[in-house]
Amino acid sequence: MNTIGTKTIETERLILRRFRVEDAEDMYNTWASVPEVTKFVSWPAHTSADFTRELLTKWVSFYEDGKTYNWGITLKGTDHVIGNIAVVGRDERTCSYEIGYCLGNAFWGRGIMPEALRAVIDYLFEGESDLMRVYAAHDLRNAKSGRVMQKAGMHFDGILRGAHKNRQGIHDSAFYSVLRSDRVTQEQYQALFMEMHPGFFERDYVRNVPEDEVASEQMLRLQGFDPNCYRKDHPENVTFGFYDGDLEELRAAVGTVVGHWPQFFSENSRVYCGFVDGKIASFCMIEDFGEHEVNGMKWKIGGPGCVGTLEAYRDRGIGLTMVRNVTQILREELYDYSYIHYTYETAWYGKLGYKTVLRWNGLGFVEN
Ligand SMILES: CC(C)(COP(=O)(O)OP(=O)(O)OC[C@H]1O[C@@H](n2cnc3c(N)ncnc32)[C@H](O)[C@@H]1OP(=O)(O)O)[C@@H](O)C(=O)NCCC(=O)NCCS
Repeated sequence: MNTIGTKTIETERLILRRFRVEDAEDMYNTWASVPEVTKFVSWPAHTSADFTRELLTKWVSFYEDGKTYNWGITLKGTDHVIGNIAVVGRDERTCSYEIGYCLGNAFWGRGIMPEALRAVIDYLFEGESDLMRVYAAHDLRNAKSGRVMQKAGMHFDGILRGAHKNRQGIHDSAFYSVLRSDRVTQEQYQALFMEMHPGFFERDYVRNVPEDEVASEQMLRLQGFDPNCYRKDHPENVTFGFYDGDLEELRAAVGTVVGHWPQFFSENSRVYCGFVDGKIASFCMIEDFGEHEVNGMKWKIGGPGCVGTLEAYRDRGIGLTMVRNVTQILREELYDYSYIHYTYETAWYGKLGYKTVLRWNGLGFVEN
Protein backbone atom coordinates (compact mmCIF):
# COMPACT_ATOMS: atom_id res chain seq x y z
CA MET A 1 0.00 0.00 0.00
CA ASN A 2 1.21 3.51 -0.80
CA THR A 3 1.71 4.66 2.78
CA ILE A 4 2.25 8.35 3.57
CA GLY A 5 3.31 8.09 7.23
CA THR A 6 2.45 10.27 10.21
CA LYS A 7 2.29 13.91 9.19
CA THR A 8 0.77 16.74 11.23
CA ILE A 9 -3.01 17.07 10.90
CA GLU A 10 -4.83 20.27 11.87
CA THR A 11 -8.54 20.28 12.73
CA GLU A 12 -10.80 23.04 14.08
CA ARG A 13 -9.60 22.62 17.66
CA LEU A 14 -6.73 20.14 17.48
CA ILE A 15 -3.25 19.52 16.21
CA LEU A 16 -2.42 15.84 15.72
CA ARG A 17 1.35 15.45 15.57
CA ARG A 18 4.14 12.91 15.92
CA PHE A 19 5.09 11.87 19.42
CA ARG A 20 8.39 13.00 20.94
CA VAL A 21 10.25 11.32 23.81
CA GLU A 22 9.69 14.52 25.83
CA ASP A 23 5.93 13.78 25.84
CA ALA A 24 6.53 11.05 28.44
CA GLU A 25 5.37 12.99 31.53
CA ASP A 26 2.22 14.27 29.81
CA MET A 27 1.33 10.87 28.40
CA TYR A 28 1.97 9.12 31.71
CA ASN A 29 -0.03 11.60 33.81
CA THR A 30 -2.87 12.28 31.40
CA TRP A 31 -3.86 8.79 30.30
CA ALA A 32 -1.29 5.97 30.33
CA SER A 33 -1.40 5.53 34.12
CA VAL A 34 -5.03 6.56 34.70
CA PRO A 35 -7.30 3.65 35.76
CA GLU A 36 -10.50 5.09 34.15
CA VAL A 37 -8.72 5.43 30.81
CA THR A 38 -6.91 2.10 30.80
CA LYS A 39 -9.87 0.03 32.01
CA PHE A 40 -10.71 -1.35 28.57
CA VAL A 41 -7.30 -1.22 26.82
CA SER A 42 -5.27 -4.29 25.91
CA TRP A 43 -2.00 -3.09 27.51
CA PRO A 44 -1.17 -2.83 31.23
CA ALA A 45 -1.45 0.64 32.81
CA HIS A 46 1.95 2.33 33.07
CA THR A 47 3.49 2.35 36.54
CA SER A 48 6.24 4.93 35.98
CA ALA A 49 7.04 7.80 33.62
CA ASP A 50 10.30 6.02 32.83
CA PHE A 51 8.35 3.12 31.38
CA THR A 52 6.37 5.61 29.24
CA ARG A 53 9.66 7.24 28.15
CA GLU A 54 11.04 3.89 27.01
CA LEU A 55 7.88 3.13 25.07
CA LEU A 56 7.96 6.56 23.41
CA THR A 57 11.59 6.00 22.40
CA LYS A 58 10.42 2.91 20.54
CA TRP A 59 7.37 4.67 19.08
CA VAL A 60 9.51 7.53 17.76
CA SER A 61 11.91 5.09 16.07
CA PHE A 62 8.96 3.39 14.32
CA TYR A 63 8.21 6.59 12.37
CA GLU A 64 11.33 5.91 10.29
CA ASP A 65 9.66 3.07 8.37
CA GLY A 66 7.33 5.60 6.67
CA LYS A 67 4.26 3.43 7.23
CA THR A 68 3.61 3.95 10.93
CA TYR A 69 0.53 6.00 11.75
CA ASN A 70 0.60 7.21 15.34
CA TRP A 71 -0.41 10.68 16.43
CA GLY A 72 -0.31 12.53 19.72
CA ILE A 73 -3.43 14.65 20.16
CA THR A 74 -2.90 18.24 21.33
CA LEU A 75 -5.30 21.15 21.79
CA LYS A 76 -4.45 24.11 19.58
CA GLY A 77 -2.40 26.67 21.49
CA THR A 78 -0.82 24.12 23.85
CA ASP A 79 1.74 21.54 22.85
CA HIS A 80 0.81 19.01 25.55
CA VAL A 81 -0.37 15.59 24.35
CA ILE A 82 -3.77 14.69 25.83
CA GLY A 83 -4.30 11.41 24.00
CA ASN A 84 -3.32 9.30 21.07
CA ILE A 85 -4.80 7.90 17.87
CA ALA A 86 -3.06 5.33 15.70
CA VAL A 87 -3.37 2.61 13.08
CA VAL A 88 -3.12 -0.48 15.28
CA GLY A 89 -3.77 -3.19 12.71
CA ARG A 90 -3.52 -3.60 8.96
CA ASP A 91 -4.55 -6.19 6.41
CA GLU A 92 -2.76 -5.81 3.07
CA ARG A 93 -5.08 -8.28 1.30
CA THR A 94 -8.22 -6.28 1.97
CA CYS A 95 -6.36 -2.95 2.06
CA SER A 96 -7.85 -2.14 5.44
CA TYR A 97 -6.63 -0.42 8.59
CA GLU A 98 -7.80 -0.70 12.18
CA ILE A 99 -7.74 2.44 14.29
CA GLY A 100 -7.27 2.61 18.05
CA TYR A 101 -7.40 5.63 20.34
CA CYS A 102 -7.09 6.81 23.92
CA LEU A 103 -7.91 10.18 25.53
CA GLY A 104 -7.14 11.55 28.99
CA ASN A 105 -10.36 11.44 31.04
CA ALA A 106 -10.07 15.13 31.93
CA PHE A 107 -10.87 15.82 28.26
CA TRP A 108 -13.84 13.46 27.82
CA GLY A 109 -17.26 14.73 26.77
CA ARG A 110 -16.07 17.54 24.46
CA GLY A 111 -16.17 15.77 21.11
CA ILE A 112 -12.39 15.74 20.89
CA MET A 113 -11.96 12.12 19.85
CA PRO A 114 -14.68 12.17 17.16
CA GLU A 115 -12.94 15.26 15.72
CA ALA A 116 -9.58 13.47 15.72
CA LEU A 117 -11.02 10.23 14.33
CA ARG A 118 -12.82 12.00 11.49
CA ALA A 119 -9.61 13.83 10.58
CA VAL A 120 -7.52 10.66 10.61
CA ILE A 121 -10.05 8.81 8.42
CA ASP A 122 -9.95 11.70 5.91
CA TYR A 123 -6.16 11.80 6.04
CA LEU A 124 -5.80 8.08 5.35
CA PHE A 125 -8.35 7.88 2.52
CA GLU A 126 -7.08 11.06 0.86
CA GLY A 127 -3.43 10.08 1.23
CA GLU A 128 -3.65 6.41 0.29
CA SER A 129 -5.42 5.87 -3.02
CA ASP A 130 -5.56 2.09 -2.55
CA LEU A 131 -6.98 2.09 0.98
CA MET A 132 -10.43 0.44 0.90
CA ARG A 133 -11.58 0.19 4.51
CA VAL A 134 -10.92 1.80 7.87
CA TYR A 135 -12.42 0.13 10.90
CA ALA A 136 -12.46 0.26 14.67
CA ALA A 137 -13.80 -2.03 17.38
CA HIS A 138 -14.70 -1.56 21.03
CA ASP A 139 -15.52 -3.71 24.04
CA LEU A 140 -19.32 -3.92 23.98
CA ARG A 141 -19.37 -2.72 27.59
CA ASN A 142 -17.43 0.42 26.70
CA ALA A 143 -20.35 2.26 25.08
CA LYS A 144 -18.54 5.64 25.19
CA SER A 145 -16.08 4.39 22.62
CA GLY A 146 -18.94 3.33 20.38
CA ARG A 147 -20.36 6.86 20.58
CA VAL A 148 -17.04 8.18 19.26
CA MET A 149 -17.26 5.90 16.22
CA GLN A 150 -20.89 6.87 15.57
CA LYS A 151 -20.12 10.59 15.89
CA ALA A 152 -17.24 10.18 13.45
CA GLY A 153 -19.79 8.90 10.92
CA MET A 154 -18.67 5.27 10.91
CA HIS A 155 -21.09 2.50 9.92
CA PHE A 156 -22.03 -0.11 12.54
CA ASP A 157 -21.06 -3.48 11.07
CA GLY A 158 -22.05 -5.78 13.90
CA ILE A 159 -20.85 -7.68 16.93
CA LEU A 160 -18.33 -10.49 17.10
CA ARG A 161 -18.55 -12.51 20.28
CA GLY A 162 -15.38 -13.26 22.19
CA ALA A 163 -13.30 -11.65 19.44
CA HIS A 164 -10.82 -9.62 21.50
CA LYS A 165 -9.04 -9.58 24.80
CA ASN A 166 -8.31 -6.60 27.02
CA ARG A 167 -7.59 -5.94 30.69
CA GLN A 168 -11.08 -7.16 31.62
CA GLY A 169 -10.53 -10.48 29.80
CA ILE A 170 -11.92 -11.92 26.58
CA HIS A 171 -14.85 -9.84 25.39
CA ASP A 172 -17.48 -9.28 22.70
CA SER A 173 -16.56 -6.51 20.25
CA ALA A 174 -18.67 -4.07 18.29
CA PHE A 175 -17.21 -3.24 14.86
CA TYR A 176 -17.58 -0.01 12.90
CA SER A 177 -16.16 0.83 9.50
CA VAL A 178 -15.87 3.35 6.69
CA LEU A 179 -15.45 2.05 3.13
CA ARG A 180 -13.92 3.97 0.26
CA SER A 181 -17.31 3.55 -1.42
CA ASP A 182 -18.95 5.51 1.45
CA ARG A 183 -16.85 8.51 0.49
CA VAL A 184 -17.72 9.11 -3.15
CA THR A 185 -18.07 12.84 -3.82
CA GLN A 186 -20.76 14.72 -5.77
CA GLU A 187 -18.20 15.39 -8.52
CA GLN A 188 -17.45 11.66 -8.80
CA TYR A 189 -21.16 10.78 -8.97
CA GLN A 190 -21.61 13.44 -11.66
CA ALA A 191 -18.72 11.98 -13.67
CA LEU A 192 -20.27 8.50 -13.35
CA PHE A 193 -23.63 9.87 -14.49
CA MET A 194 -22.14 11.55 -17.56
CA GLU A 195 -20.26 8.36 -18.41
CA MET A 196 -23.54 6.39 -18.29
CA HIS A 197 -25.54 9.07 -20.13
CA PRO A 198 -23.24 10.98 -22.50
CA GLY A 199 -24.68 14.27 -23.73
CA PHE A 200 -27.62 13.96 -21.32
CA PHE A 201 -28.25 17.66 -20.73
CA GLU A 202 -28.18 18.40 -24.47
CA ARG A 203 -31.19 16.17 -25.12
CA ASP A 204 -34.43 18.05 -25.88
CA TYR A 205 -36.59 16.07 -23.46
CA VAL A 206 -34.10 16.86 -20.69
CA ARG A 207 -33.69 20.53 -21.58
CA ASN A 208 -37.46 20.88 -21.37
CA VAL A 209 -37.60 19.73 -17.74
CA PRO A 210 -38.73 22.90 -15.89
CA GLU A 211 -36.30 24.44 -13.42
CA ASP A 212 -38.54 23.74 -10.40
CA GLU A 213 -39.00 20.09 -11.35
CA VAL A 214 -35.97 18.43 -9.78
CA ALA A 215 -35.37 14.76 -10.66
CA SER A 216 -33.17 12.38 -8.68
CA GLU A 217 -30.67 9.59 -9.26
CA GLN A 218 -30.57 6.95 -6.54
CA MET A 219 -28.20 4.11 -5.71
CA LEU A 220 -28.08 1.12 -3.41
CA ARG A 221 -25.00 -0.91 -2.49
CA LEU A 222 -26.06 -4.48 -3.22
CA GLN A 223 -23.75 -6.48 -0.96
CA GLY A 224 -25.49 -5.16 2.11
CA PHE A 225 -29.02 -5.40 0.68
CA ASP A 226 -31.49 -7.30 2.84
CA PRO A 227 -34.60 -8.38 0.89
CA ASN A 228 -36.47 -8.66 4.20
CA CYS A 229 -36.31 -4.86 4.53
CA TYR A 230 -39.70 -4.78 2.82
CA ARG A 231 -42.30 -7.50 3.36
CA LYS A 232 -45.89 -7.42 2.25
CA ASP A 233 -48.35 -10.32 2.32
CA HIS A 234 -50.20 -10.84 -0.93
CA PRO A 235 -53.13 -13.10 -1.79
CA GLU A 236 -52.33 -16.20 -3.81
CA ASN A 237 -53.44 -14.64 -7.10
CA VAL A 238 -50.55 -12.12 -6.89
CA THR A 239 -47.32 -13.53 -8.35
CA PHE A 240 -43.98 -12.18 -9.55
CA GLY A 241 -41.57 -13.27 -12.26
CA PHE A 242 -39.82 -12.53 -15.54
CA TYR A 243 -42.10 -11.59 -18.39
CA ASP A 244 -42.03 -13.98 -21.34
CA GLY A 245 -45.40 -13.16 -22.86
CA ASP A 246 -46.46 -11.14 -25.86
CA LEU A 247 -44.50 -7.89 -26.40
CA GLU A 248 -47.49 -5.91 -27.69
CA GLU A 249 -49.53 -6.90 -24.66
CA LEU A 250 -46.70 -5.66 -22.43
CA ARG A 251 -46.39 -2.41 -24.39
CA ALA A 252 -50.13 -1.83 -24.09
CA ALA A 253 -49.97 -2.27 -20.32
CA VAL A 254 -46.93 0.03 -20.05
CA GLY A 255 -48.69 2.65 -22.20
CA THR A 256 -51.56 2.93 -19.72
CA VAL A 257 -49.04 4.07 -17.06
CA VAL A 258 -46.72 6.38 -19.05
CA GLY A 259 -47.69 7.23 -22.64
CA HIS A 260 -44.20 7.40 -24.16
CA TRP A 261 -42.62 4.38 -22.45
CA PRO A 262 -43.75 1.50 -24.74
CA GLN A 263 -41.00 2.43 -27.28
CA PHE A 264 -38.35 1.49 -24.70
CA PHE A 265 -39.58 -2.11 -24.47
CA SER A 266 -38.24 -4.45 -27.17
CA GLU A 267 -37.71 -8.18 -27.72
CA ASN A 268 -34.27 -7.78 -26.12
CA SER A 269 -35.47 -6.12 -22.91
CA ARG A 270 -35.27 -8.08 -19.70
CA VAL A 271 -38.59 -7.42 -18.02
CA TYR A 272 -39.81 -8.45 -14.58
CA CYS A 273 -43.46 -8.13 -13.58
CA GLY A 274 -46.04 -8.40 -10.85
CA PHE A 275 -49.13 -10.31 -11.98
CA VAL A 276 -52.69 -10.50 -10.67
CA ASP A 277 -54.54 -13.58 -11.88
CA GLY A 278 -51.76 -13.94 -14.46
CA LYS A 279 -52.35 -10.45 -15.89
CA ILE A 280 -49.67 -7.72 -15.84
CA ALA A 281 -50.16 -5.57 -12.73
CA SER A 282 -46.72 -3.97 -12.57
CA PHE A 283 -43.62 -3.97 -14.76
CA CYS A 284 -39.98 -3.05 -14.67
CA MET A 285 -36.99 -3.43 -16.93
CA ILE A 286 -33.77 -4.89 -15.56
CA GLU A 287 -31.02 -2.74 -17.00
CA ASP A 288 -27.30 -3.34 -17.24
CA PHE A 289 -25.38 -0.05 -17.02
CA GLY A 290 -21.97 -1.72 -17.39
CA GLU A 291 -18.74 -1.48 -15.40
CA HIS A 292 -17.47 1.89 -14.27
CA GLU A 293 -14.43 3.09 -12.37
CA VAL A 294 -15.39 5.33 -9.45
CA ASN A 295 -12.92 6.76 -6.92
CA GLY A 296 -10.44 3.94 -7.60
CA MET A 297 -13.09 1.19 -7.41
CA LYS A 298 -14.63 -0.92 -10.21
CA TRP A 299 -18.41 -0.98 -9.96
CA LYS A 300 -20.69 -3.28 -11.93
CA ILE A 301 -23.95 -1.36 -12.11
CA GLY A 302 -27.46 -2.49 -12.98
CA GLY A 303 -30.89 -1.33 -11.99
CA PRO A 304 -34.65 -1.30 -12.43
CA GLY A 305 -35.83 1.02 -15.22
CA CYS A 306 -39.28 2.13 -16.43
CA VAL A 307 -40.99 1.03 -13.21
CA GLY A 308 -44.76 1.21 -13.04
CA THR A 309 -47.91 -0.24 -11.53
CA LEU A 310 -51.21 -0.14 -13.45
CA GLU A 311 -53.72 2.20 -11.79
CA ALA A 312 -56.09 -0.60 -10.79
CA TYR A 313 -53.38 -2.42 -8.83
CA ARG A 314 -51.73 0.44 -6.95
CA ASP A 315 -51.19 0.78 -3.21
CA ARG A 316 -51.08 -2.94 -2.55
CA GLY A 317 -47.32 -3.21 -2.28
CA ILE A 318 -47.10 -4.87 -5.69
CA GLY A 319 -44.78 -2.28 -7.24
CA LEU A 320 -42.37 -2.18 -4.35
CA THR A 321 -42.26 -5.96 -3.94
CA MET A 322 -41.37 -6.16 -7.64
CA VAL A 323 -38.53 -3.64 -7.26
CA ARG A 324 -37.34 -5.46 -4.13
CA ASN A 325 -37.21 -8.75 -6.08
CA VAL A 326 -35.34 -7.12 -8.95
CA THR A 327 -32.85 -5.60 -6.52
CA GLN A 328 -32.28 -9.06 -5.03
CA ILE A 329 -31.82 -10.54 -8.53
CA LEU A 330 -29.12 -7.95 -9.27
CA ARG A 331 -27.46 -8.81 -5.97
CA GLU A 332 -27.47 -12.51 -6.84
CA GLU A 333 -25.99 -11.68 -10.24
CA LEU A 334 -23.10 -10.02 -8.37
CA TYR A 335 -23.75 -6.47 -9.45
CA ASP A 336 -22.13 -4.01 -7.03
CA TYR A 337 -24.77 -1.29 -7.23
CA SER A 338 -28.39 -0.95 -8.22
CA TYR A 339 -29.08 2.40 -9.88
CA ILE A 340 -32.39 4.24 -10.32
CA HIS A 341 -32.23 6.78 -13.12
CA TYR A 342 -34.54 9.81 -13.45
CA THR A 343 -37.04 9.47 -10.61
CA TYR A 344 -39.35 11.64 -8.53
CA GLU A 345 -40.31 8.72 -6.24
CA THR A 346 -37.31 8.99 -3.91
CA ALA A 347 -39.27 8.25 -0.72
CA TRP A 348 -40.81 5.17 -2.30
CA TYR A 349 -37.46 3.68 -3.40
CA GLY A 350 -36.05 4.90 -0.08
CA LYS A 351 -38.16 2.23 1.66
CA LEU A 352 -35.77 -0.34 0.14
CA GLY A 353 -32.67 1.61 1.15
CA TYR A 354 -32.01 3.50 -2.10
CA LYS A 355 -30.15 6.76 -1.40
CA THR A 356 -30.27 9.90 -3.53
CA VAL A 357 -26.80 10.61 -4.95
CA LEU A 358 -27.61 13.33 -7.50
CA ARG A 359 -30.39 15.78 -8.35
CA TRP A 360 -30.89 17.64 -11.60
CA ASN A 361 -33.27 19.72 -13.71
CA GLY A 362 -33.27 20.89 -17.34
CA LEU A 363 -30.36 23.26 -16.64
CA GLY A 364 -28.03 20.65 -15.12
CA PHE A 365 -27.11 19.27 -11.70
CA VAL A 366 -28.69 20.80 -8.60
CA GLU A 367 -26.93 20.86 -5.22
CA ASN A 368 -28.00 17.94 -2.99
C1 LIG B 1 -44.70 4.71 -8.22
C2 LIG B 1 -45.55 3.48 -8.44
C3 LIG B 1 -44.73 2.48 -9.26
C4 LIG B 1 -45.96 2.86 -7.11
O1 LIG B 1 -46.52 1.58 -7.34
P1 LIG B 1 -47.47 0.85 -6.27
O2 LIG B 1 -47.54 -0.56 -6.68
O3 LIG B 1 -48.74 1.59 -6.11
O4 LIG B 1 -46.63 1.03 -4.93
P2 LIG B 1 -46.72 0.06 -3.69
O5 LIG B 1 -48.14 -0.24 -3.38
O6 LIG B 1 -45.83 -1.12 -3.95
O7 LIG B 1 -46.07 0.94 -2.56
C5 LIG B 1 -45.58 0.28 -1.47
C6 LIG B 1 -45.53 1.17 -0.29
O8 LIG B 1 -45.07 2.48 -0.63
C7 LIG B 1 -46.06 3.46 -0.32
N1 LIG B 1 -46.02 4.43 -1.41
C8 LIG B 1 -46.68 4.43 -2.55
N2 LIG B 1 -46.31 5.49 -3.32
C9 LIG B 1 -45.40 6.16 -2.60
C10 LIG B 1 -44.63 7.34 -2.82
N3 LIG B 1 -44.76 8.06 -3.94
N4 LIG B 1 -43.74 7.72 -1.87
C11 LIG B 1 -43.61 7.02 -0.71
N5 LIG B 1 -44.31 5.90 -0.44
C12 LIG B 1 -45.19 5.49 -1.38
C13 LIG B 1 -47.36 2.69 -0.24
O9 LIG B 1 -48.26 3.34 0.63
C14 LIG B 1 -46.89 1.38 0.34
O10 LIG B 1 -46.59 1.53 1.73
P3 LIG B 1 -46.70 0.30 2.76
O11 LIG B 1 -46.13 -0.91 2.12
O12 LIG B 1 -45.90 0.75 3.93
O13 LIG B 1 -48.16 0.15 3.03
C15 LIG B 1 -46.87 3.81 -9.21
O14 LIG B 1 -47.51 4.85 -8.53
C16 LIG B 1 -46.67 4.21 -10.64
O15 LIG B 1 -46.64 3.36 -11.54
N6 LIG B 1 -46.52 5.53 -10.92
C17 LIG B 1 -46.35 6.04 -12.29
C18 LIG B 1 -44.99 5.63 -12.88
C19 LIG B 1 -43.84 6.11 -12.04
O16 LIG B 1 -43.81 7.23 -11.54
N7 LIG B 1 -42.84 5.24 -11.91
C20 LIG B 1 -41.61 5.52 -11.19
C21 LIG B 1 -40.66 5.98 -12.21
S1 LIG B 1 -39.03 6.09 -11.60
